[in-house]
Amino acid sequence: MKSFAVLLLLSLLLPAAAAAEENGVRAFAPCRACHSLDPAERGLPGPNLSGLIGRVVAGNTDFDYSPVLRKARDEGLRWDAKRLEIFLADPAAMFPGLWMSMRGIEDAAERQALVRFLEDPASR
Ligand code: HEC
Repeated sequence: MKSFAVLLLLSLLLPAAAAAEENGVRAFAPCRACHSLDPAERGLPGPNLSGLIGRVVAGNTDFDYSPVLRKARDEGLRWDAKRLEIFLADPAAMFPGLWMSMRGIEDAAERQALVRFLEDPASR
C-alpha cells in the first residue's frame, strides 16, 4: 500500500516537473534571438547568459554594456533567482536606460519556469 502511494505520488510529480522544464525552454525561446547559453557563442545582440545565476550583473567581459548595467556591476550587484525574477517582470523598471528592448513577462509561473531553466540550462 505504501509503495502504491509512492508510485502514485511519483506519477503525479514527474510529469509536473517535466512540464515546468518544458515551460522554461519555451519561455527562453524569444530570448535566443539575442542571447546564447553556449559559453563559446559570441556576436549576438545581447550578452552571453551561460552561468548567469551567481554571476555579477553585466559580468560578460566580451559584451559592451549600457551605463546603467555597468553602474550595477560597479556596485557589485549579482544575479540570483530572486533578482532575475523581478528583472524579468519588468526589465527597464529595475534598470532604467537598459539597452534590452523586451517587455516584461507578466505571468509569474512563466517567469519562475524561465528562472529555473536559467539556473540549470544543462537540462534543456
Ligand atoms: C532584442 C534583443 C534581446 C532580447 C529578445 C532579450 N534580450 Fe536580454 N539583453 C539584451 C541586451 C542588448 C542586453 C544588455 C543590456 C544593456 O547593456 O543595457 C541584455 C541583457 C540581459 C540580461 C543581463 C545580463 C548580464 O550579463 O548581466 C539578462 C539577465 C537578460 N538580458 C535576460 C533576457 C531574457 C531572459 C530574455 C528573454 C525573456 C531576454 N533577455 C531577451 C538583448 C535582448
